[in-house]
Amino acid sequence: MKSFGDALKDGSVKLRDYVERAAQTGALDDRLFAVDLSKADALDAAEFFDRTELVKNLETLVRQVLRRVSQGSGNAVYLLDTVMGGGKSHTLVYLYLLFQKRPLANSRPELREILRDEELGGVPDAEVVVFDGMSADPSLPFEEQPNIARFFEGGGGKDDVAKSIEAVGKPVVFLVDEVLAYLAKRKEMWVSDLAFIRTLAEAVADTANSVFVATVPSDTSNQEGYKRLVAAFKEIKRKAELIHPQNPGEDFARIARKQIFKLVDGREAKEAAEWARRMLEREGYAVDEKRYAECYPFHPMLIKVFTERFAVFENFQKTREALKLLARMCARSKSLPYPFIGPGDVDLDERYLRDALTSANTFEIKNLSEIVSTDILPAKDDKRRALTALYLYSLYPKEEQRGLDRRDLFEALLPENGSASDLERLVKDYIRQEALYLEENKENGRFYFKEEVNIHALVRREAENIGDVTQELVKVVEEFSKEFGEHVSAALDSPEVYPEKLNLVFTPLEIRNAEEYADKRGFFGVDSRSANAVVVVYPSEDAGVAELEWALKQNIAVEALKKRFKGKKHVLERLNEIGEEQHAEITAKFSSTYTSLLLYKDREKKHWRVQPREYTLQAYAEAVKQTLAEKQKAYFDPSKVNLELLFGRLLGERSEVRVEDAYTNIARSSTIPYLPRSVFTEALRLAVEGGKVGLADTSQPPRLIHHLSGRGDGLLILSRERKAVIEQEKAAAPAQGAQEAERGEENEAFGQQAGVKDKAEQKSALRVKLTVSATALKKEDVHPAALFLEYAENAWRISKDDGAFVEVKLSGYEGSARFKARMDKVGKVKSFIEAFANAFEGEAHELTLSVNLREDLAKQVEEKLAGRMKLAREEV
Ligand SMILES: Nc1ncnc2c1ncn2[C@@H]1O[C@H](COP(=O)(O)OP(=O)(O)OP(=O)(O)O)[C@@H](O)[C@H]1O
Ligand SMILES: [Mg+2]
Repeated sequence: MKSFGDALKDGSVKLRDYVERAAQTGALDDRLFAVDLSKADALDAAEFFDRTELVKNLETLVRQVLRRVSQGSGNAVYLLDTVMGGGKSHTLVYLYLLFQKRPLANSRPELREILRDEELGGVPDAEVVVFDGMSADPSLPFEEQPNIARFFEGGGGKDDVAKSIEAVGKPVVFLVDEVLAYLAKRKEMWVSDLAFIRTLAEAVADTANSVFVATVPSDTSNQEGYKRLVAAFKEIKRKAELIHPQNPGEDFARIARKQIFKLVDGREAKEAAEWARRMLEREGYAVDEKRYAECYPFHPMLIKVFTERFAVFENFQKTREALKLLARMCARSKSLPYPFIGPGDVDLDERYLRDALTSANTFEIKNLSEIVSTDILPAKDDKRRALTALYLYSLYPKEEQRGLDRRDLFEALLPENGSASDLERLVKDYIRQEALYLEENKENGRFYFKEEVNIHALVRREAENIGDVTQELVKVVEEFSKEFGEHVSAALDSPEVYPEKLNLVFTPLEIRNAEEYADKRGFFGVDSRSANAVVVVYPSEDAGVAELEWALKQNIAVEALKKRFKGKKHVLERLNEIGEEQHAEITAKFSSTYTSLLLYKDREKKHWRVQPREYTLQAYAEAVKQTLAEKQKAYFDPSKVNLELLFGRLLGERSEVRVEDAYTNIARSSTIPYLPRSVFTEALRLAVEGGKVGLADTSQPPRLIHHLSGRGDGLLILSRERKAVIEQEKAAAPAQGAQEAERGEENEAFGQQAGVKDKAEQKSALRVKLTVSATALKKEDVHPAALFLEYAENAWRISKDDGAFVEVKLSGYEGSARFKARMDKVGKVKSFIEAFANAFEGEAHELTLSVNLREDLAKQVEEKLAGRMKLAREEV
C-alpha cells in the first residue's frame, strides 16, 4: 500500500502549485475559484486550459459551437443551466479563450483531437462579444451597453440586429453571463432590457453562423420580482438548447482532481483502487473498484459528501465551495499515511475547514462548532478519524439519514488493522464514555452527531461511576421530614432520638434486617427512654431499593454535570429538565419503597405496611401518620385521642402525677399510644377543659389551674376525684394566712383519702429483695438479668415505689465490685451489665443482681417471670 504522502514524494501524484503553496503558507487564494467572464483576459489562458476538465457536456457544447461557427449548422442559441450548480461561467470563459487564444487552443492535445474529429484545421476566426451582468453599467439599457450598442445602431428590430451582426464579416460569438445581477439593478426597466436580450438571441438564430450562449439565472432568492424575471427568461429558453455544463455526481471528482492536481498517475490510481478492494473484501463487502480509480486520490465517499450530501443544502455553494474545501484538505494531507484522502482525514483543526464545516448558515444544524470542539477535536488517531468521518456524514438535513453504519464507516476509513466490529466498538465506547453529541440510531445502526447533547446517556454514564448515595438519601429524607411537620423527626440512619417527637428512623438502603438494625441501635430496649417514640422505616422490596438507588445516582450525576458544564446554557437547561424528572422519580420510588414500619407496641416488635394513596411527599406523610393512628400507636391530632383512656392509664392507681413524669412515660412505655410533646400538651389542655383530669401546681396546698398554656412543666395532673377534693377543700377553707400550718395537715389528711394514702402504705409495706445470679458472663447468662431488670422497672414505673433500688455485685479474680442504683437509673445499669458481659465474655466473673421492691410489686414481677428464670426471694 502506497500512502498519499509517499505518492506525493515519489511524484506519482503532484499537487498544483497553488495547493503546494497553500500547504506551505497555510493560505489559499479563493479567487482561484471565482470564475469571472469580464476578467477572462487577465487569466493565464494556458493554466486555465490545464485546469479545465473537458467533461462530456462541455465537450459536446464546444463541438456544437465549433460546428455552428464553421459550418452554420446546428443550434445558434444555448442556455447553460446547472442542476447542482457549478460550471456555467467556467464554460463561458472556456469558449471565450477558445476563440481569443486560438494558437494556444490549437496546440492543446484535447482540442486538437476535437478539431480533427470536426475536420477543422484550427479554431475558426470569430468575433467574441461578452456581456457580464455583474460588471455591466446598471444605468445603461441593455441595447446601449458598450459591447452591445453597435448591434442595435441599425435599428432595434430582430432583422436589423441580424443584419448588424452579419455586417461584422465573421461569425460572432455572444457570451452572456449573470443577466440576473444586471436586471435586478435595473428596477422596472428590466422588462424592456430583457426584450432586447431576446431580440439579440433571436437575431443570432437568424444569422448564418453566429452563436449566442447565455447562463440561465437561477432562482435562489425566491423573491417575487426574480421569479417573474426567470419566467420571462424562459421565453428565450424555448428557442434554445439547454446545456448542463456538468453531471453533478459523475464529473465532480474529475473536475476536482484536475483543479487540484497537476498530475495523477493512472497506474497509481489503479493500484490504490485494488488495495481498497482488498480491504473491503477482507470484511466481505462488495466494492465499486472503478469508482475508486476514478476518484483517486480522493476517496469516493469524500466526493459523495459534496455531491450527494452537502449539495442538498441551499446555501452550500456547490462546486466552488467544494473545490475550496478539497484544495485545503489536500494542502493539509501531505503526509497522510493512507492512499485515499477520505472523510476521516479532514483536518478540523484547520481554521478555514472548521469554520466552513460548522457553519450554521450553510448546514442549518445547531451547535456544530460545539460538537466539533467537544466531541471531535479532543480525540486522537483512529478515534479522531472515525469521528471526523461520522461528522461529515452527519451534515445532512434528515436526521434518520445522518451518519454511517459500521459497514460504511469501515469503508470510509479503510483501516489496515482492525475490523468493522473493532471500529463499531470504538465508536460505541466513545458514546458510552465520553461523547456528548454522538448518538447511535438504533433503527438503522448509524452513528451520528446530533445537535442536542446526548444528555441522558451522559447522565447515565456519570451515574454509573457513583458509589455512595447516602448523602443524597439524607437530603431526600430531610425533604420528607418537612412534610411530616414539627411533631416528627425524620432522619436517615440516625442514632439520635428525641422523646418529644415521633422519631422516624429510615434505615440505610443496604440494611436488610430492620430488627437487627433496631437492636443494634438499642431503640426498643428497656433502657431506651424513648422506645415508644421510635418508628424504624425500612424498604419493603429490593427492587424498589435498586430503582431508588439508581435514581439517586442519576441525580448526583446531574449535579456533577451541572458544575462541569457551567456556562453552557443549553446543556444546563437539559440538565435541569432531567434533574426535575429524577427528583420526581426519587420521590415516587422513595414513597413506594420505604413502606415498612418497625416499632415497639405492647412490649413487642411489630411490623406494619403503609400504603400511600399516591407517591407524593404529602400522600406518603399522611399515610404513615394515618397507619400509626389507626393502629393506636401514635396520634398527631389531639382531638382523635381517647383522653379518658389515656389519662386513666397515665395516672394508674395514683391520684396525681407530675406532667413531666407522665410524658416520660408516654415516650418510653410501649403500652400507651405515643403522642408528640406538643400534641400531648394540647390533649392535656382538652382533658382539663373537659373535666377529665385536673391540673395543679405543686405548692402546698396545691392550687388548681384551669387554663393550660405551654407545656405544663412542673405541674401535676390530678385524677378527677383528687381534683374534686381540692375544689371542695378550697371552698371550705377559711381565709388564708392564719391557718397555714393547719392547712398543711388537712392536706395530708386529704391526701390519705386519695393519692397520699399510698404513701402511708408504702412506709409500712413489706419489702422484698429478688436476686438473680449468673456465673459465667456469657450473653445468654446475662440476658435473664436484663429481662428481670426490665420487668422490675415496669412494675416500679406503674406503682411509684420510691423505695425501690437495684444492687449489683460483680466478682472475679481481681476482687469484686458492688453498687446500688435508684430505679430511674435501671437503664444505665442494664447497659453497664451488657457492656461488662461483652468485655469479659466467657470469663469466670460472677454477677449478682438484686432488686429491692415493695412486696406487692415483687410479687407481680415474680409471677410474670415464673418459669422463665429462677429468682431468689428474701424479705427485708
Ligand atoms: N469543467 C471544469 N473543469 C475545471 N473546473 C471547473 C469546471 N467547471 C467548473 N469548474 C470550477 O468550478 C467552480 C464553479 O464553476 P463556475 O464559477 O463556472 O460556476 P457557476 O455555474 O458560474 O456558478 P454561479 O451560479 O455561482 O455563477 C469554479 O471554480 C470553476 O473553475
Ligand atoms: Mg457564474
